[in-house]
Amino acid sequence: MSTDAPAPLPRILSGMQPTSDSLHLGNYIGALVNWVTLQDKEFDAFYFVANLHALTVPTDPAVLRRRTRETAAQFIAGGVDPKRSTLFLQSDIAEHAELAWVCNCLTQFGEASRMTQFKDKVAKGQNANVGLFTYPMLMAADILMYDAAYVPVGEDQRQHLEITRDVAERFNTRFGEGGLVVPEPYILKESAKIMDLTDPESKMSGTNSPDKGLLLLSDTDSRLRKKIMSAVTDAEAEVRYDSEAKAGVSNLLVIHSALTGTRVEELERTYAGRGYGDLKKDVAEIVVSTVAPFRERMAELLDDPAELDRILADGAGRAREVAVVTMARVREMVGLPPRAV
Ligand code: TYM
Repeated sequence: MSTDAPAPLPRILSGMQPTSDSLHLGNYIGALVNWVTLQDKEFDAFYFVANLHALTVPTDPAVLRRRTRETAAQFIAGGVDPKRSTLFLQSDIAEHAELAWVCNCLTQFGEASRMTQFKDKVAKGQNANVGLFTYPMLMAADILMYDAAYVPVGEDQRQHLEITRDVAERFNTRFGEGGLVVPEPYILKESAKIMDLTDPESKMSGTNSPDKGLLLLSDTDSRLRKKIMSAVTDAEAEVRYDSEAKAGVSNLLVIHSALTGTRVEELERTYAGRGYGDLKKDVAEIVVSTVAPFRERMAELLDDPAELDRILADGAGRAREVAVVTMARVREMVGLPPRAV
């Protein structure tokens, strides 16, 4: 009789920042939908609210606290099941900041300076603090802490995953194999970048897009309809996917396709000979029917703060069990003594 324990499931991990009052449809389609699909497969899923990362954007403390809880509630409303997935707040696990320091010391200044998200934010005039500069190394720590094999994110995070892989490989070269797991990105091409409705050349972003360009998961039905009906398109009348020449229409097709599961080529056939108005009306109804139940579920969750606290405490406990083991291994490998107390 074999006494072998079953092999542990490969781990997946991802996080979102609580930097605005609600997640938007880009977060939902680009990441959250995949999180939910993956938790139902053969994975050990860890999902967290990246509230340490959110400190890089100056925010009123009470607002940050509220948004952190709301983001956690939105994960659950979107289908993350705290029984099957480990759901926690980044700030509950002190080891993240500790491992981030080790990652900082393994990253060259020039390498960090090449991060396009950092460069874009500085170019747009964001008052950059050092936290924004070292942001990718905290993200690397989040991932490497849990030996994550896959990281489901949108396209905009690809470069951060590359630097994470580089840091892990460097760690293993310097300190020995078996140190850190080198993670793979999990990015679905078709839905990885949802664009701003008012400026379809730019990604939909909670911190950069104007309200009219954002479809928030907290928006009322009428706001969602209004924003979609006034989305920027082009001077032609043909419903066709061309992300460069027809960025606005292509974005609407991608949203439709992601939420209904209908392929874009099939949608092009369906809308052949019909105007943009028809496409917009249909997309509006599809988005409303996705967001409305989500909004209700979120309101219920926020109505029961004790239950949300319980879920987050339970998740933090499970996450900490893994984090202390990784941090002990890292401390030993880099030459720091075990913690005295
Ligand atoms: P954040 O909070 O900016 O975005 C959360 C997730 O949503 C995806 N996303 C999009 N996908 C498609 N279209 C869009 N317009 C769009 N906007 C955002 C992002 O790719 C992301 O998956 N650095 C991360 C948070 C983070 C993290 C981590 C992620 C911190 N530590 C560790 C993974 C692993 C971020 O800022 O995501």
